[in-house]
Amino acid sequence: MSQHASAAGALWGGRFSGGPAESVAALSRSVHFDWRLAKYDILGTKAHIRALQQAGYLTMAELEKLDRDLGELWARIQNGSFLPKESDEDVHSALERGLIEITGKELGGKVRAGRSRNDQIATLIRTYLLEEATHLERLVSQLIATIANRAEEHLGVAMPGRTHFQHAQPVLLSHSLLAHAWPLQRDLERLDDWRKRAMLSPYGAGALAGNTLGLDPNLVAQELGLSGPTQNSIDATSSRDVVAEFGFIATMMGINLSRFSEEIIVWATAEFNYIKLADAYSTGSSIMPQKKNPDVAELARGKAGRMIGDLTGLLATLKGLPLAYNRDLQEDKEPVFDMIDTLFVLLPAFTGMVETMTFNTERMEELAPAGFSLATDVAEWLVKQKVIFRDAHEITGSLVSYCEQHGLELHQVPDAAMAAISPHLTPEVRDVLTVQGSIRARAGAGGTALPRVLEQLTGIRKIIAHRLA
Ligand code: ARG
Repeated sequence: MSQHASAAGALWGGRFSGGPAESVAALSRSVHFDWRLAKYDILGTKAHIRALQQAGYLTMAELEKLDRDLGELWARIQNGSFLPKESDEDVHSALERGLIEITGKELGGKVRAGRSRNDQIATLIRTYLLEEATHLERLVSQLIATIANRAEEHLGVAMPGRTHFQHAQPVLLSHSLLAHAWPLQRDLERLDDWRKRAMLSPYGAGALAGNTLGLDPNLVAQELGLSGPTQNSIDATSSRDVVAEFGFIATMMGINLSRFSEEIIVWATAEFNYIKLADAYSTGSSIMPQKKNPDVAELARGKAGRMIGDLTGLLATLKGLPLAYNRDLQEDKEPVFDMIDTLFVLLPAFTGMVETMTFNTERMEELAPAGFSLATDVAEWLVKQKVIFRDAHEITGSLVSYCEQHGLELHQVPDAAMAAISPHLTPEVRDVLTVQGSIRARAGAGGTALPRVLEQLTGIRKIIAHRLA
């Protein structure tokens, strides 16, 4: 078996007769994916050396030198002159090697006192996710603002509303579009709430039991912009529910985009012909010259599946773990990194697609009354004439059946035929048999009547303006 010599960047090895087998080093290595945490690791170290200085383990001059050298290390990472090596196990080892290269073995070797990679990684993943959450919030807010714009441009346009994918009741297109904005807004609210739990710093938890050096965890938390330290060092190093919760929110965003996508895909078919996608947001076929495909929406739908896989894998990793840190926890990162990368590439394209699609409002309006979608209006009109609802439902059902047999729309049934179905069905019922009348009548809270839609539009715009400010 070939053996690594105790690697240059290794953070352990004193009690070992040699380095790990090559296959073990390969299995163990995480630097190819946790390298993206480098910035957060450096910020964590900058906070940690302050606590070391305050507790008397570094002089002020040493603190200042280390702080400068960490700045230099970050500059070298940014200009590409410092890179992880094959022999670096993870981002922590690579950065300790990098710092020692700049600052020397003696001073660089003091930095690791009073912390473990266990409390370190538990902190970094939080500061990383918090920053990505801010980018995500912006991208989702831009999509919501775009949906609101499209809703505002088409105020008053009626379309078929569906349940079970069958014509149900006419609704306003704006109402339907905004129905995709609110779930995304709730995802952002979930992020707000998640932040409260993510904003705690595990630094000071050590490997699992806390630290003996009297380092001030409040100082570290404050330096990192977090609200305070975690309460239990075992919990702090072994839990990843904060990561899983972020994963759920990201996945829910993916699912919400996927639901909207499904409609867009159907709306763009020749049969529906509700929308046209802009050329820049569609793709062609390599064999069928006539094709224009809704690939952005299809990729959104597909990527939601991938994100569900990421989340499920992460949850499965956590499920059987005893306290405290277990190496399984290294597997928490790639799933959330993948979700973040997925949303970052998806959201701008999705927003562009929504921004540029055109609506065939004539077609939507024409289909709005189809499928006897005003039947509920007839039943409710009867209720207003003091007919009990069970009877009103029956009577309206008979009217629909009559229409089907005679190939008529509801408003075309002759007076005599209506009277034969029920004496309550007087010609006045025709007053409610218009799409716009039906929509106007649904003026209850959250309904599709124009004043209610305008209220929601104002409401969501206010929330989003605040987020985008
Ligand atoms: N790469 C590890 C992780 O992501 C860092 C912590 C390693 N700790 C340890 N005791 N081996 O979880």
